[in-house]
Amino acid sequence: MNLVLMGLPGAGKGTQAERIVDKYGIPHISTGDMFRAAIKEGTDLGLKAKSFMDAGNLVPDNVTIGIVNERLGKSDCQNGFLLDGFPRTVAQAEALEKILSEMNRSINYVLNIDVDKEQLMERLTGRRICKQCGATYHVMFNPPENEGVCDKCGGELYQREDDNEKTVKTRLEVNIEQSKPLLAFYAEKGYLRNIDGNQDIKKVFNDIDQLFGGLR
Ligand code: AP5
Ligand code: ZN
Repeated sequence: MNLVLMGLPGAGKGTQAERIVDKYGIPHISTGDMFRAAIKEGTDLGLKAKSFMDAGNLVPDNVTIGIVNERLGKSDCQNGFLLDGFPRTVAQAEALEKILSEMNRSINYVLNIDVDKEQLMERLTGRRICKQCGATYHVMFNPPENEGVCDKCGGELYQREDDNEKTVKTRLEVNIEQSKPLLAFYAEKGYLRNIDGNQDIKKVFNDIDQLFGGLR
């Protein structure tokens, strides 16, 4: 399965991606995670991405397309992949079409997790992430059993630097603007499936899982 997960910041892409890769065994490719790892390691890529991410803006297309192109060429992507947070612009989507057609492959589905905008600020400012395994929690909607500690691995939970009110506001504005033409691009190609992301986490996953029933 070659899948793309779309949704505004906080829609639940990472949360559902964790569950999809667990069940379907395809690699999770999150451009946001790749940039954060690069910033942590202090690489050139990290240096290029940091100022854009801190401000809530998109990293330039040429940088982003380059890392995805390289990642999709790795052997673990041969039986499918789950792209999370890429593409985010029509230029990125067009580049992805080209990369895949050169591999004689194409996208099966673009899943758009649709959530009322009013909910997103609360979801993002309450998010906590495990330092060790990357699992995602929410202080109200998906709390860990013990505050500040990951259920899965016992790792310490932290808050992402861009999950503050000011940056979230810019992220939402930027992504709302960019997603409109992108959704139209994928609707036209017939790949787009809308998923109701206002439901609880399990129900959202059930809807996604049912959709995949036809692909197994
Ligand atoms: P990225 O890391 O992709 O962040 P994002 O798009 O802003 O999305 P998030 O990770 O914040 O949200 P999510 O949808 O994964 O939500 P989650 O599941 O965690 O990108 C970060 C930055 O990198 C960008 O701003 C940009 O600078 C750069 N970048 C990345 N890709 C790029 C690209 N392609 N081009 C250019 N720049 C790029 O859920 C959020 C919270 O809600 C959690 O606490 C969770 O527990 C909770 N939650 C989830 N689902 C539910 C539910 N159903 N009900 C209640 N709570 C829920
Ligand atoms: Zn953990």
